[in-house]
Amino acid sequence: MDDFAGRVAVITGAASGIGRGLARHAAREGMRVVLADVEAAALDDALSDVAGLGADAIGVRTDVSHEGDVQALADAAYERFGAVHLLCNNAGVFQAGVVWQRTQADWDWVMGVNLWGILHGIRAFVPRLLEQGGEAHIVNTASMAGMMSVAYSGPYVVSKFAAAALTECLAHDLRAHGASIGVSCLVPGYVDTRIGDSTRNRPDEPPSEVTAPDHHFVAQILKDQTAAQGRHPDEVAAIVFDAVRAGQFWIPTSDGYEPLLRSRADALLQRALPATTDFT
Ligand SMILES: NC(=O)c1ccc[n+]([C@@H]2O[C@H](COP(=O)([O-])OP(=O)(O)OC[C@H]3O[C@@H](n4cnc5c(N)ncnc54)[C@H](O)[C@@H]3O)[C@@H](O)[C@H]2O)c1
Repeated sequence: MDDFAGRVAVITGAASGIGRGLARHAAREGMRVVLADVEAAALDDALSDVAGLGADAIGVRTDVSHEGDVQALADAAYERFGAVHLLCNNAGVFQAGVVWQRTQADWDWVMGVNLWGILHGIRAFVPRLLEQGGEAHIVNTASMAGMMSVAYSGPYVVSKFAAAALTECLAHDLRAHGASIGVSCLVPGYVDTRIGDSTRNRPDEPPSEVTAPDHHFVAQILKDQTAAQGRHPDEVAAIVFDAVRAGQFWIPTSDGYEPLLRSRADALLQRALPATTDFT
């Protein structure tokens, strides 16, 4: 898809970071924009921002881990604009920790947002996109953490590997169907966002310092790294729109990970545990 003006974008996690960058970029491309997020006040702020760029836009408070919320988001988008052309299943949260120490609630939260959130988006929108006909494109946000594993971040890494696999399967299924819906998987490295402060949106009790020092230790490293080395979300949004125009499947945000990806492929062929990066 290379023509965005006048078309409709739906973006989850649009109140902050990458999602907000995508919404702003969509507005600058002349798209009509549906912003979805669980954090109501931040969503209002992002909506004013995007409307201030001249876009016809609405905000829909949505918890992507709830199937009913995502179906209601699709209803709202179609009711207001009658069609959707670009769907960005982008909302995500970070949960670190040693795999055997994280509680069932920790795993449920991160898998609920990062995996089920994308699946709910696919199930709510794809049938409507197929029925509407014509060109459309879906961008799911996974992570470089969905392409290689690290210590102390099991729940996040598992959710992102699953998100990447889900996106590959979606692309295969749509191609097998002969559908004119493109698919891309955004796999960012560090981006300067609030991802290290994800527990602000956790509905139940976040892990406390006492019970989850492993989570807080890694979350602090992530905050430091994203602030020091992260790309600006607006740059990431520009990369995403260029990639959608080019029909690219994987959307990395830097070339710096090539050696690790190659060494991962080599390790798989050699039946060895792949090398890792941070936190070891
Ligand atoms: N920042 C990075 O370095 C980085 C790297 C790789 C991947 N990612 C991924 O990028 C995506 C966007 O994250 P970000 O970095 O912009 O972080 P962010 O925290 O700045 O933005 C995430 C947004 O998702 C929203 N959100 C959280 N839970 C939600 C839910 N249940 N329903 C709906 N919205 C919800 C938050 O309110 C927030 O507005 C995530 O999927 C994240 O995993 C980020």
